[in-house]
Amino acid sequence: MRSHYCGDLRKEQIGEDVVLMGWVHRRRDHGGVIFLDVRDREGIAQVVFDPDREESFKLADSVRNEYVIEIRGTVRSRPQGTENPEMPTGQIEVLGKELKILNRADTPPFQLDEFQQVGEDVRLRHRYIDLRRPEIQKKLRFRSKVTHNVRNYLEENGFLDIETPVLTRATPEGARDYLVPSRTHEGCFFALPQSPQLFKQLLMVSGFDRYYQIAKCFRDEDLRADRQPEFTQIDIETSFLSEEEIMGLAEGMVRKLFTELLGVELGDFPRMPYSEAMQRYGSDKPDLRLPMELVDVNDLVAGVDFKVFAGPATDPKGRVAALKVPGGAELTRKQIDEYTKFVSIYGAKGLAWIKVNALEQGAEGLQSPIVKFLGEEVSLQIMQRLGAQNGDIVFFGADRAKIVNEALGALRIRVGEDLNLVERQWAPLWVVDFPMFEELDDGSLTALHHPFTSPNCTPDELVAAPEGKLSRAYDMVLNGTELGGGSIRIHDQEMQKAVFKVLGISDEEAEEKFGFLLNALKYGAPPHGGLAFGLDRLIMLMTGSASIREVIAFPKTQSAACLLTDAPGEVSAAQLRELNIRLRKTP
Ligand code: AMO
Ligand code: AMP
Repeated sequence: MRSHYCGDLRKEQIGEDVVLMGWVHRRRDHGGVIFLDVRDREGIAQVVFDPDREESFKLADSVRNEYVIEIRGTVRSRPQGTENPEMPTGQIEVLGKELKILNRADTPPFQLDEFQQVGEDVRLRHRYIDLRRPEIQKKLRFRSKVTHNVRNYLEENGFLDIETPVLTRATPEGARDYLVPSRTHEGCFFALPQSPQLFKQLLMVSGFDRYYQIAKCFRDEDLRADRQPEFTQIDIETSFLSEEEIMGLAEGMVRKLFTELLGVELGDFPRMPYSEAMQRYGSDKPDLRLPMELVDVNDLVAGVDFKVFAGPATDPKGRVAALKVPGGAELTRKQIDEYTKFVSIYGAKGLAWIKVNALEQGAEGLQSPIVKFLGEEVSLQIMQRLGAQNGDIVFFGADRAKIVNEALGALRIRVGEDLNLVERQWAPLWVVDFPMFEELDDGSLTALHHPFTSPNCTPDELVAAPEGKLSRAYDMVLNGTELGGGSIRIHDQEMQKAVFKVLGISDEEAEEKFGFLLNALKYGAPPHGGLAFGLDRLIMLMTGSASIREVIAFPKTQSAACLLTDAPGEVSAAQLRELNIRLRKTP
């Protein structure tokens, strides 16, 4: 057995005989002396072999990178002048006496410290080697600390860890389901859970009162830097608590994580209604580290000849908003063109702008392609409303409110990052008072959260005028990322039926898909509510990672494949037959 981890050796062990086991990180031949940097999960130690011990010297000379070895030797201080203050073990080295090769290794597809020279696909294919990199090891160890800390907090607060099934029925959270064919029920499929939502509600009906689970969720949706098809939630549900109480418990959990693991005091979390977030930041997950805000100018431009602005300004579903960027007058034409292209992704048909060069000269001091259309007076009124100063640039969006919000909301983040306008490191908040429903392009309504969220009105009021009704939902947002969200649920059968009705789900369909829930609501369902955090996103933010894949041991690619195991894979004809599945060959 090892006596120490390589990375744990310090001056205190000088003179001690030690046994180390690990991987050859690097081998160097220094004029007749062999140095092996030996690595294990705690770090790297330098081991020296001199020719006096012929046998082990020869072996040491023969090892290659990533060989697995066992070493017996004695810790000594490094000769003066050769200490390495950069390394935790840099004061000492081990004089190697015996060396055993436990396993050889082929030349790895990439050297650990040269990982950037190969594509991510090579690293994912050989993820077990990639995971040896100290940076990734650090992140996964941090992840383990987070889940440990979360479990402690929740257990201390009376929550019970209860597992829910993975082979189940569709749980609608807005994504496509992953389906699993059933062998024993011909033509039938299980769905993997998009979240444990319905089971955790049933656990409340059963009286468990406080539930949590660190649960795998599966969603077949378009992937982005912060989304995986298979991800982990810290899933929470409680009975008899108000939204304030639930938010308080969740906030306490996140605050504790940040103080204990990062030494950061997040303080209290401001509450912001959804409508205000959209109005001021164009987003329901505003990044409050940036100071800029969207400002309405509908009233100022409603009467101008410029139809591009006057049209949306007088349309009830339209919006004309301005975004003032301090110091933005420096932006070049090329950069502005790039931003124009960027907002077009969100459907914006253009990106009007005004550079504030010399406000003391009135409209003469404004540089812009649109001042001539808006007129000098209106242009200056806008500058006044925005409190614009020399050196600023003002961008404009004019369209349906949805497009303006998405385009300027995204531009705000992009320009803020490009111009380094981030004012603080952490900016948490709660977004509250969400609308119950959202209108789809075809005019139908969909639940903004999920259909089990409680509205803030009676069933009759809801059915009479569903648009504009608010829900009792809340989202926790950190630095522009939705970390988690939840709500007070519907515990009343009539209300649940009313929501299904508004969503256009017929009684038969509701019965077929959610009959078990509607039934459970008949037999003494307590008022209940909860929320779920995206664990991967939380770790991603806490470790400052650029991609969610950096904090997951075995992540999937953007096309939802596992390069390591080559999943998903084809299956044999016999397996398909057993499942009564015939593949349709696409020519
Ligand atoms: P929601 O769908 O908002 O709510 O999910 C909760 C949190 O999970 C994270 N998340 C993801 N993380 C990585 N990859 C994904 N594809 C992905 N999708 C979601 C986000 C999100 O905030 N049942 C409800 C919760 C509840 O009401 O209690 C639910 O699943 O951080
Ligand atoms: P145009 O009259 O189309 O040349 O537009 C004049 C300016 O307004 C250009 O800078 C365009 O980028 C900008 N613009 C056009 N449509 C919009 C829009 N919907 N929202 C904001 N700016 C726009």
